[in-house]
Amino acid sequence: MPEPVTIILNGERRPVAAGSSVAAALLTMGVAARRSVSGEERSAVCGMGICEECRVMVDGRAGVRGCLVTCRDGMEVRTNG
Ligand code: FES
Repeated sequence: MPEPVTIILNGERRPVAAGSSVAAALLTMGVAARRSVSGEERSAVCGMGICEECRVMVDGRAGVRGCLVTCRDGMEVRTNG
């Protein structure tokens, strides 16, 4: 089994399984990707880049679909981005 990688999630170091998408990592941790305009927590639905419910900020880039990005060591992820 490969060594986990560490992402920085909302400023906190979090180990995740190597090869995980950002969306899968968030689901595994029970962390919502974002909030809707009415304040409801939203997370990945389709897992293939269609629904956009998994949008987060990755390394300062907003609106990234987390299901399409693989976690790598030192990656900075911010929810609600
Ligand atoms: S989970 Fe649907 S676009 Fe990412």
